[in-house]
Amino acid sequence: MEEPSVTTLPRGLAAFDLKGRVAVITGASSGIGRSFASAIVDAGGKAVVVARREDRLKDLVLQLGPDKVAPVTCDVGDHQALPAMALAANKAFGAPDIVVNVAGNTVRKQAEDLSPDEFLEVIKVQLMAPLHVAQQFVPAMKEKGWGRVVNIGSITTSHALPGTTAYAACKSGIAGLTRAMAKDWGPFGITVNALCPGFFATELTAPVVADEKRWKANAERTFVGRNGVTEDMHGALVMLCSEAGRYISGQMLYVDAGFTAN
Ligand SMILES: NC(=O)c1ccc[n+]([C@@H]2O[C@H](COP(=O)([O-])OP(=O)(O)OC[C@H]3O[C@@H](n4cnc5c(N)ncnc54)[C@H](OP(=O)(O)O)[C@@H]3O)[C@@H](O)[C@H]2O)c1
Repeated sequence: MEEPSVTTLPRGLAAFDLKGRVAVITGASSGIGRSFASAIVDAGGKAVVVARREDRLKDLVLQLGPDKVAPVTCDVGDHQALPAMALAANKAFGAPDIVVNVAGNTVRKQAEDLSPDEFLEVIKVQLMAPLHVAQQFVPAMKEKGWGRVVNIGSITTSHALPGTTAYAACKSGIAGLTRAMAKDWGPFGITVNALCPGFFATELTAPVVADEKRWKANAERTFVGRNGVTEDMHGALVMLCSEAGRYISGQMLYVDAGFTAN
């Protein structure tokens, strides 16, 4: 096989510039996904923001500007709803170059109490949607010969945490899924990686934040002595979504200040 030719990498910060790039971000109505919409726009890109709560998405559009952000409401756990979501996303700013799969849920139960329906509810959103959402946009990326997919793992991608059976199964699955997607789509100029966040205060982690002792212990386990704020992930996201990240693929990038290394 002939090696693909390598274009010159833009120098310095230009390699991180997302000007002309369009990202679809799921789970953008709150927490990490909402923050990621700002990161993409701040780096010069445009974002199609996807979630179920329309009012939250509209509020984000008001904040960042309708010329840079477009809302699409969709339940990404509903496979049948994805083609309509993709149609609306393509209409907004043209075929997206980047998919950031942030939508997430959980059912906090001890392993012996988790029902099949509860397990499936988490699998649909946390494990199946990242593949099926990306599938909607990969054909256009292949045509362009350029694409980026960023999934979201977690500390549970590699470490056990209490009451996370369904969640940890999915987040461990994200590692295999990310590598398999990266392998299949790499020859078409598409990189696929996962960001694995430490602890960030969001709606999803509200019960953990409310447990002051546990929240403090989580902070103390990091090398910097604090839990994360969503901006802590922006640099890693922009790197993976931009030209700067073109030779990084199939990787789990832990943005956890050493929590999993400690
Ligand atoms: N916060 C942390 O410390 C942490 C750590 C590791 C990994 N993560 C992961 O990061 C991702 C974002 O979580 P977060 O902490 O930012 O929580 P969050 O604030 O609760 O955000 C979750 C987002 O997912 C969306 N969502 C949930 N189910 C959906 C569905 N069926 N269809 C479409 N959108 C759906 C929600 O929007 P709607 O309700 O409007 O649909 C919301 O925008 C998740 O994958 C989570 O597992 C978080």
